[in-house]
Amino acid sequence: MSLVRKRVLVTGGAGFLGSHLCERLLADGHDVLCVDNYFTGRKDNIAHLHGHPHFEMLRHDVTFPLYVEIDEIYNLACPASPIHYQFDPVQTTKTSVVGAINMLGLAKRLKAKILQASTSEVYGDPTVHPQTEDYRGNVNPLGPRACYDEGKRAAETLFFDYHRQHRVRIKVVRIFNTYGPRMHPDDGRVVSNFIVQALRGAPITLYGDGSQTRAFCFVSDLIEGFMRLMNTADEVTGPVNIGNPHEIPVRELAERIIHLTGSASTIEYRPLPQDDPTQRCPDITLARSLLRWEPSVALDDGLRRTIDYFADLLASDGADTPRHA
Ligand SMILES: NC(=O)c1ccc[n+]([C@@H]2O[C@H](COP(=O)([O-])OP(=O)(O)OC[C@H]3O[C@@H](n4cnc5c(N)ncnc54)[C@H](O)[C@@H]3O)[C@@H](O)[C@H]2O)c1
Repeated sequence: MSLVRKRVLVTGGAGFLGSHLCERLLADGHDVLCVDNYFTGRKDNIAHLHGHPHFEMLRHDVTFPLYVEIDEIYNLACPASPIHYQFDPVQTTKTSVVGAINMLGLAKRLKAKILQASTSEVYGDPTVHPQTEDYRGNVNPLGPRACYDEGKRAAETLFFDYHRQHRVRIKVVRIFNTYGPRMHPDDGRVVSNFIVQALRGAPITLYGDGSQTRAFCFVSDLIEGFMRLMNTADEVTGPVNIGNPHEIPVRELAERIIHLTGSASTIEYRPLPQDDPTQRCPDITLARSLLRWEPSVALDDGLRRTIDYFADLLASDGADTPRHA
């Protein structure tokens, strides 16, 4: 429990990461205002928080200004998986850019601290491995992923300009692949895809030959990183990479999930989508030294918890599709 109760705004709070963050902030004794337009977020993700005396939910789209009184903002609102952010790419860029302007304006007016959920996608298809925060990236500004990658890059620019020009207290975290309970079952992301396919006994679809590597961070580790960064001194702005530096080939992930679920699924190979990075791995030296943070949940433990969540979800038939509105 925190000694000082803060009023904290979480945009995108009904999403995968946002719902865990709301939970953690409430557990730490804060007042939480969760804002979401439910594009990819789900009421089920936060249903258990309703009735909590310090939790409040507001349906709102961050591309419109918001006038509330708060002390801190975590800006997470943005669809995060390619299927979702490519559904309406113009809206994706607007959410990142106009959403950032609206939230930074609010932070400026209230002198509130604001944390931006940025992404490893700002590095694009990286030419250096692992990626350190000073690597400037290799992003295709014209491709189908650009609405997300360039939107997040522009949001980072806005954060640093509000900091320099208006002295807004900012924290920028670059999130690498994170997984855990409450990921969307149909988001096409590799962990949720493989688990749902394995639980259904369907073939596991693997893009490319499966030798491309990814590193996966469990959600509770990521949220701990958020809290530590938010609580640093004002001169600490980031960007700070938060992710798991332990890489595994995607084929090995598929095999582990087949093993942990006891599934009879086979692996089916498909062509790699355009601009899909072949390798992505964070250098977390800065997070280690600045935040004394590193991931603590082993992949198999995190996968088991995620498998349990999806097994319950599929059993209760709650795997609804997102509302594209
Ligand atoms: N999960 C990851 O591995 C990962 C990696 C890198 C970055 N991120 C970033 O973290 C944040 C949260 O990602 P997530 O995985 O929880 O995704 P998510 O899709 O589950 O959550 C995003 C939330 O934002 C909401 N939202 C989208 N557009 C909005 C708008 N215009 N106004 C209000 N709400 C809006 C959605 O409804 C959803 O609840 C995103 O900003 C994402 O870019 C996530």
